[in-house]
Amino acid sequence: MSAALVGSPSDSSGFAQPLIEWQRTHGRHALPWQQTTDPYRVWLSEIMLQQTQVATVLGYYERFLTRFPDVAALAAAPQDDVLALWSGLGYYSRARNLHACARAVMSEFGGEFPRTSAQLQTLPGIGRSTAAAIAAFCFGERVAILDGNVKRVLTRFLAFEADLAVAANERVLWARATELLPESGIESYTQGLMDLGATVCLARSPQCLLCPVQPGCQGRREGRPERFPIKTRKLKRGVRENAWLWLVWDDMLWLCQRPETGIWAGLWSFPEFESIEALWTQADRWPGEATQLEPFTHVLTHLDWTLHPVVWRLPAQVTAKRVEALTGTLPQGRWVTVDEALAMGVPAALRKLVLRSHAAVLPPAA
Ligand code: ADE
Repeated sequence: MSAALVGSPSDSSGFAQPLIEWQRTHGRHALPWQQTTDPYRVWLSEIMLQQTQVATVLGYYERFLTRFPDVAALAAAPQDDVLALWSGLGYYSRARNLHACARAVMSEFGGEFPRTSAQLQTLPGIGRSTAAAIAAFCFGERVAILDGNVKRVLTRFLAFEADLAVAANERVLWARATELLPESGIESYTQGLMDLGATVCLARSPQCLLCPVQPGCQGRREGRPERFPIKTRKLKRGVRENAWLWLVWDDMLWLCQRPETGIWAGLWSFPEFESIEALWTQADRWPGEATQLEPFTHVLTHLDWTLHPVVWRLPAQVTAKRVEALTGTLPQGRWVTVDEALAMGVPAALRKLVLRSHAAVLPPAA
């Protein structure tokens, strides 16, 4: 590391320049979204990476770009197609916002992403940190990012004692993040912060001996960097139970689209009931036979959600009219084959259940 850089007036804290040098020699350089300054591609990667690991994002990113090579293609697609390609990445509001954002870029910005973080932040699904990352990577704007990983890096480096559950304290951290910015090299700096958070300044086991900013790190000096960030308000987790009706007719199953708000909004799923009893009540006089499958618990951010799938197989000789009367009592939906279901925007939990159980549930092909 060059001494001149460490002591430069723009980096009196010994943070930005060592980080930039480290990123250039030890950081990640081969990720697909690093090979471009096209804001569409960078934006897509940043949204996908918000709550998802790099290794998972890679495959989705390539498939998305093949199907939607530019913002116009994404804006023109039906929402169902976008949700179908997103299926399995989770946090589906990201996919709906992605689509809304593409449409806003077309309608409000003539098909070109705006070039400043301030304007980027006006678009659906683009928060302050994401806007800053796009503006830094694509347009070289000197602006701070502050996602979860970066909060960890900075609060440790600064031994930032204030409680981040308090919005005013988070604003102070934003200000400190801005003070730490380098005069130049914002692209490497921003990527370096992300890389350091992902590979060295780990939540439970910080690898301080490998860290380029260790000499100036206050958290390390105090001996317990993993104490930071300080955030008092703990998430209160809830529990919920529902029954799922897996209705089978011939080689098809009935899927309905979930409401526009709530869990898995807009995705295709099985009709859902308050409880198995509620399902039995509704299906009281239906023809056919029911089998209860093993319940499973799906873990969401705020909720442990236990689902009790019930397979209801309609008899082969049932008339289409009877079937229509019966599905008329369910949320609006459609009959699809398993292959069609798996190609639709379905939650990953449903996909897994169908893949695991459909051979036992559906009749073999004639
Ligand atoms: N996480 C968020 N943005 C990222 C990026 N550009 N590279 C790697 N990980 C990230």
